[in-house]
Order: sequence, then C-alpha cells, then structure tokens
Amino acid sequence: MKYRKRKRGDDLGVLKLETDNTKAMQLPDLLHCYRVANLVFTLCIKLGIENKVREEMFIAATLHDVGKSMISKDILNKPGKLNSTEWNAIKHHAELGGVIASNMNQNLSIVKSIVHHHENYDGTGYPRQLQGEEIPLGASIIRVCDTYDALRMKRPYKKAFSHEEALNEMKNEKEKYHPKVFNSFISMNFEEVKGVKVGSMNGF
Ligand SMILES: [Fe+2]
Repeated sequence: MKYRKRKRGDDLGVLKLETDNTKAMQLPDLLHCYRVANLVFTLCIKLGIENKVREEMFIAATLHDVGKSMISKDILNKPGKLNSTEWNAIKHHAELGGVIASNMNQNLSIVKSIVHHHENYDGTGYPRQLQGEEIPLGASIIRVCDTYDALRMKRPYKKAFSHEEALNEMKNEKEKYHPKVFNSFISMNFEEVKGVKVGSMNGF
C-alpha cells in the first residue's frame, strides 16, 4: 500500500490510501467502510451467524462501497441536491462494487451482499427492488449498519446525527429493514463494537 498527500483543489481527500481496488476512494468513504465492517461483525455475533459466514460478511462490508471508486468525485462531493442523472450515477456504485469484488475473486455470497446492500425490505431500494427474504441476508445486515453509520457521519449536505438521533431516524422507517436484523441491531451493545468511532479521525 502506498499513499500520497491531497492534490490542491481536492475537496475532501486529506490523504488517499491507494490499493489496486480502492485507489480512487476518499478517506471518509474508506473509514465509513471500516466502521460498517466492525458493526457488521458485532451484529453477526449477536445474530448467531457462524464464524465462516461472519468473516465473509466482514469482507463484504469492508468492500461494500468500493464501487464509489468509479463514480465522479464531483458528484460524490456535491454539497447540494443531486439531479436525477447524478443520482442514477451514484446508484451504480452497488453493482460496480460487485464487479470489483468479483474481479478480486470474492465468492458469490460476498458479491451479492455488495450488489444488494441498498435494497430495502419493503422493495423500495436499488438496484433490483428486491423485497423481504429475496434480499441476501448479508445485504440486509450491511443495509442496517451502513444506514446507521451514514447518519452518524457529517456529510457536505447533512450534519452528523447523535447515536440516539440515528436510531430514532431508523425506527421511523423501520419497514425498510429486515425485522430480525433491525431488532438485533437496535438492542446491540455499541460499546462492544471494536475499532475507530465515527468523528474521531480528523472529524470523519
Ligand atoms: Fe453504498
């Protein structure tokens, strides 16, 4: 792994980590993926998911947004509202992430968990509008942890939510989440989640 300092005019990248498949990811997005992976790992333990599958879910969560490496930074960092073309471009990151994971020789379970991590239990998500148990369990687990961490993050277009605010926001739209996964998540002891906490690394 090598690293380089930010280029002048690069809005968010204080430092960019470069590997073959994350060379265009920005530090806030990478840290988000690592935090989501730690949440997923802890949630999998609470759900009683066996060790091998838990490790696959950890990999899927670590890579879940790697498809953003192929999306324009101008769109990813746009502070205002996205138009429909820009929003459609962002939505491609889920399937692009699946392609990258597949090219990294990750198994089908991992690839599917990445491709479907924005599907909603009520069928309102993307890319395929899957619903209920059609959604791979790994994707449903990432969906919950991803949403929580995204709410906790400060973004160009939103403030950082507190832990309580994030959980309340999710409870208000709980029809989007797998019921068993969501109930386990909100009753999780967040003190047991290992790794770096949101906001502690250069404010990210
Ligand atoms: Fe995503």
